[in-house]
Parts: sequence; structure tokens; C-alpha cells
Amino acid sequence: MKFKNTHKDHEVTDESIYRQRRQLVKTGIIGMGTLAINPSLALTLGQPQKNTSFNIEDTTSEKDATTYNNFYEFGLGKDEPAENAHTLATNSWTIEVSGHAKKTGIFDLEKIVKQMSLEERIYRMRCVEAWSMVIPWLGFKLADLIKYFEPTSQAKYIYFETLYDPTQMPGQKSRSIPWPYREGLRMDEAMNELTLVTVGMYGKILPNQNGAPLRLIVPWKYGFKGIKSIKKIAFVDKQPLNSWQAIAPQEYGFFANVNPNVDHPRWSQKTERRITGSFSFFRSRIDTQLFNGYGAYVADLYHGMNLTKYY
Ligand code: MTE
Repeated sequence: MKFKNTHKDHEVTDESIYRQRRQLVKTGIIGMGTLAINPSLALTLGQPQKNTSFNIEDTTSEKDATTYNNFYEFGLGKDEPAENAHTLATNSWTIEVSGHAKKTGIFDLEKIVKQMSLEERIYRMRCVEAWSMVIPWLGFKLADLIKYFEPTSQAKYIYFETLYDPTQMPGQKSRSIPWPYREGLRMDEAMNELTLVTVGMYGKILPNQNGAPLRLIVPWKYGFKGIKSIKKIAFVDKQPLNSWQAIAPQEYGFFANVNPNVDHPRWSQKTERRITGSFSFFRSRIDTQLFNGYGAYVADLYHGMNLTKYY
């Protein structure tokens, strides 16, 4: 199944999109229903709809996914975000939008989310440290959020920043990495059907340690692209520098596509330790797939590009 963005004939495009959506539903990437938000409570999510296609793979236990985290704003240890992230205040969250778009300014997150169509999607998440999880996210397409802000043709990339507030994020008092955490996507990557802005997981509101109240999920890229607790978005014309690229450019690039054929300079990326179910930490390794297994949906984005050079 290949999806081409270049069809001129509308009928062909519609048919192609239709088939792509069916395939996504079949493989559990897209949940069938959308979820309503309880209007009386800020960002409270409805119950997820049961969907048998979620059985495609063993999902990671909610406990593992919420206690084994990377969120340097709350400490460098994997167990520290779950212990420390309670100091983050996620109510009345606003997002600042700037750059090449018709709608810019400060936006109330709750008002935006009410206008988005929420879906439950199960995605594999492959971390650059060679472990992976399978997580049911609740979110909406980044494409829909982007359309809401009406970017102009000068917007070639989208840039994100996490909240900077050392009182709420004590890890920012140390100079472990340059703050705030930063990420970016090329506009066509951002508009891809798979790219999600998530506000929940496991049918519940996103826990602070997983990036509340909203984070990015780009399932064919290494986990570090999934910037948490997004506070600023900018539509820019030049490729932005992301945090890990700024820290170690020889190790982390802008694209960060999951690729078993391009090793990290200090370790192989050929296999991963999949954290699923109970006793998961003792599971054997599995082979890592190009684009984390989502090549049918995203390989066209990188047609003709040298993925070893643009890692
Ligand atoms: N976002 C912020 N703001 N700070 C971080 O330290 N870590 C990244 C990414 N997003 C990080 C972040 C990394 S390295 C990974 S692997 C994922 O979040 C981990 O997401 P998880 O804790 O939900 O598994």
C-alpha cells in the first residue's frame, strides 16, 4: 500500500486516501471512533472506544509506560519523571503561536482541543536508546492543528518548545541540557496522517510524566522527537535546531527516522528491547524496522534522500 501525495485527479486522490485510512484502521493505527471531551472539565476525555484491532501487538503495560520515562525537566533517571512531575501545573494551559501563519498569538488549549477530532491510536515508540513500547495514545492529527492556524506558503518547518519554568520543572535549574527542550518537523512530515498531538493515553488524560497537557508523537521517528508539554509553536522558513542535535550533532540529526541500517556512533540500532506485558524487562530483543514499521505511510517523504547523511 503506497500513498502518493502527487495525484492530480481528485477521484484517484480520494480513493487513495480512503484506502490508506482503511489500511490504518485495519492495522490498528487509527481507532474507529472519535472521543468526546467533557465540556465541564478542562481536558477531561471520554472513555476510549473498544477496538479489537488494538490486538495487533502486545501493548506495553500502563505502569511501565508511565514509570519508565525520559523527561529531563524532572530528572535524568527513568523513574524520576513519575516521582517529580507533579509540580507541573497543566490547568488553563495556553500555547503561543508565532511565525508564518494567519492566526498567531496566545491560544487557550482547551478551546483548541474542543475543535479537534480525537482518535485513539496504538503506536510503536522506538527510543534512540534501543528500547521500545507500544502505547494507545489519545490525540488529534497535527495536520488539523496546523490547518487551524492557517500557515502561509513561507512556512517550511514547524518548531516546538516545551515550557520553560524552573519552579515547575526543577530539572531546568541544572544545566544538563540547554533549556527549553526544542523540536522541529518539516512541514510535509508534520502534515502526515500519522503525526499526532496527544492529550491522553490508555483512555485517560496524559500523565504529567508523559508530557501533559499536550505532546507530539511521530511514530516513525526516534522517541526524542516526541516533545512534551508544548508551550510554543512557530511556523518557520528554515530548518530549526532540535535539542539533541544541538547537544550532540554527530549523534542526533534533524530527521531522526528509525533506521536499523544507520547505527548510533556508540551503539547499534539494529535491534530493540520491546517493553510489553509483565516481566517485560526480561524480554529478548526484536529486530528494529525501517521507519519503525511505518514505511508504507512515510517512505515517500524521503524519496531520493540519503538516509545515512540525513539521519
Ligand atoms: N520532551 C521534553 N520536554 N523533555 C525531554 O527530556 N525526552 C524525549 C521525549 N520528549 C524529552 C521530551 C525522549 S529522549 C523520549 S525517548 C521521549 O520523550 C520519552 O517519552 P516517554 O517518557 O513518554 O516514553
